Amino acid sequence: MCGIVGAVSRSQAVLRPLVEGLRVLEYRGYDSCGVAVAEADGVAVRRKVGRLAELEAVLQDGALDGALGGIGHTRWATHGKPSDENAHPHSDGSGHLALVHNGIIENYLELRRDLLDAGVTFTSETDTEVLGHLVGREFERTGDLAAALRAALARVQGYYAVAVVAVRDEVQIVCARQGPPLVVGATAEASFLASDVLALIPHTREVTYLEDGDVAILRPGGFELSDLAGNPVERPVRTIDWDAEEASKGGYAHHMLKEIHEQPDVLAQTAFDRLLQVEGDVAFEGGGWENEALQRVQRVQVVACGTALHAGMIAAYMIEGLAGVPVDVDFASEFRYRDPQLVPDTMVLAISQSGETADTLAAMRLARSLGARPVSICNVIGSTVVRESDAVILTHAGPEIGVASTKAFVTQVVAALLLAVRMGRARGRLSVEQGRELLDELRRLRPRVESLVSDEVDARCAEIAAQTQDAKGFFFLGRGINFPVALEGALKLKEISYVHAEGYAAGEMKHGPIALIEPGMPVVVVNSPGRVASKVRSNIEQVKARGGRVICVGSDPESLALADEGVPVPATNEWLSPLLNVIPLQLFAYHHALLRGCDIDKPRNLAKSVTVE
Ligand code: M6R
Repeated sequence: MCGIVGAVSRSQAVLRPLVEGLRVLEYRGYDSCGVAVAEADGVAVRRKVGRLAELEAVLQDGALDGALGGIGHTRWATHGKPSDENAHPHSDGSGHLALVHNGIIENYLELRRDLLDAGVTFTSETDTEVLGHLVGREFERTGDLAAALRAALARVQGYYAVAVVAVRDEVQIVCARQGPPLVVGATAEASFLASDVLALIPHTREVTYLEDGDVAILRPGGFELSDLAGNPVERPVRTIDWDAEEASKGGYAHHMLKEIHEQPDVLAQTAFDRLLQVEGDVAFEGGGWENEALQRVQRVQVVACGTALHAGMIAAYMIEGLAGVPVDVDFASEFRYRDPQLVPDTMVLAISQSGETADTLAAMRLARSLGARPVSICNVIGSTVVRESDAVILTHAGPEIGVASTKAFVTQVVAALLLAVRMGRARGRLSVEQGRELLDELRRLRPRVESLVSDEVDARCAEIAAQTQDAKGFFFLGRGINFPVALEGALKLKEISYVHAEGYAAGEMKHGPIALIEPGMPVVVVNSPGRVASKVRSNIEQVKARGGRVICVGSDPESLALADEGVPVPATNEWLSPLLNVIPLQLFAYHHALLRGCDIDKPRNLAKSVTVE
């Protein structure tokens, strides 16, 4: 995920601190990086695709060593491939201003068209460059950088953390937040900004987090905060007392917890700039998803492992339901060793966070040798899965460090929904209105995901985990599109807390597993309103009749009322319900593991990326 740093000092050079700040943010993953610093007569930009060492090689000439203000960025490509041209900072071509940005400018195509009509020349494929030009034009007029940024942001739809450096008579550095985090801090000599507090800790532990809609003007020794209308605002100063180990987790106790909390952002990052709201359709970057290609598809074969397989099972419900295309799903490890009979024009959809899972790769290669077309949903640009795919939907989850996959799952499900909508629209199965309705609902989901990573839901999940911590085993039940969510809840619990948990299709219980239910056995039931909700309610009754202790997660009020314990989630369309229902299950597993003193980020016997058989 992208990283931002910035600094302005009275008398000390800022280039080294900027580069060191970027080094601290390296752990977030990036594919290019750059800095922009203020000189006497303008702003100088240096940026490079690749690692920080390559940028440092460029900076070795010492030309920028004396600068007293500047910004820096590590980029994880979203709009446009990793390249020198697409790396941040971006400028407006005037030589007086440069800007870095995390997030997405959703209406950038429209803004870019307006700017092209006005004679602006673009030098990158990014959405960020649009913002550079908008701020640059205002700055040219007024010379007031904060006012210029506010005016530009008034035209922007999307979510962003942005930092700008400009020179006219004096060095000006401003930043603003609407979504992704930004934090500022000052010493007597200088002031600093960063997208992650870790980059500020070497300078100060007294920091102030910007809130959505805040703009900060940095000066040597201090900063001023205001809102987008220019009214002053006050935010508390917090003292960061983390040690180095805690700091690398951004203040969370574990990477897994941090990654659970990143889910509102990564959902937006994976979805929002691909939505064609008016057309009720989706636009993917890169080829292979055009109407003709998708109209030809006779069958889809999903291959994946673990959590990615669960996302693939959800994809199957979505693609069959929204696009009317038959879908088979298989464990990649099974597919590769059976004799799969693929009908002509089978699209083999591999799903993988790492893009390096050995079984998934082998399944893709087998599929290609059988004449099928491998495509993928993957999180790591440049990974083997991506390189060996005919078409790719990149998820923008950023690096996932905890072995237990959380945010990657949510982005895989988002990508699957986007694919199902694209296929449905391409094949005429989904109308403009139906597509629009789904995408509108997806756009409304971010605050609901945020409400599920709140202290309140966390505390509720911790409470239920404490009540059930001595249980010998758990069932996780669901039906329809929430059946794979039940499987995922069980997988999370067993992999990090080493408690036996069985995920089951609720309707299958009566064919055997119900014999295991005994008084007090915890049974987690996932249910949201939809075509199978009443069936799941009957399953709840069956469990209760045998003395099982039902814990309901979902938005079906009747199920929540029937259950012994409940974690209500906000209502949404049935197709999107897995994106919300999975979050309490992640927190539930997390708290179980915590109570049992397990090594949450590195569970025993497991590797983050399974690159061998
Ligand atoms: O990198 P991949 O998505 O291909 O990995 C697949 C599985 O190994 C992975 O999802 C695994 O199941 C996770 N540890 C689950 O949390």
